[in-house]
Amino acid sequence: MLTAQTGQARVTVHCTVNGVPRTVTTVPNRTLLEMLREDLALTGAKEGCGTGDCGACTVIVDGRPVNSCLMLAPQAEGKTIRTVEGVAQGGRLHPVQEALIEYGGLQCGFCTPGLVVTAAALLERQPSPSEETIRSALAGNLCRCTGYGKIVDAVLAAAERMRTHQGEKA
Ligand code: FES
Ligand code: FES
Repeated sequence: MLTAQTGQARVTVHCTVNGVPRTVTTVPNRTLLEMLREDLALTGAKEGCGTGDCGACTVIVDGRPVNSCLMLAPQAEGKTIRTVEGVAQGGRLHPVQEALIEYGGLQCGFCTPGLVVTAAALLERQPSPSEETIRSALAGNLCRCTGYGKIVDAVLAAAERMRTHQGEKA
């Protein structure tokens, strides 16, 4: 809904962020990344390039990883969004987070949140990805400081753990 207050157009966005329904009144040309960081104080997603090239701003929108620097806040209307702050559940790290720590796959604070979110989204829709699939999924999360080997090993290990956990619950 667009409203005019103090001469500046405002838009109200209704969405669910990390499981919590949110109503955010913001400016129409704000990106989803800006809405998350500046209106909702969720600063886990980072602005690296601002042009859709680095993946540092990745969040999960309706189950898919999205570069939030390329999505306008009003486009989040009715969407379900998860940020890196929302991937851990019940006080436990996500298996991807646990495995990245164990396998030495953690990188810097700029690229790691996007890597975590992209990998989590992949494993939640594809429980048994090949190494090639993982590398392809992470291709948009740029870090020139790694060969990605430990990250890929960690995601493979996380996938196995998630499958085992699912098997135990079934
Ligand atoms: S900040 Fe969005 S892709 Fe780089
Ligand atoms: S960009 Fe984060 S460690 Fe390379």
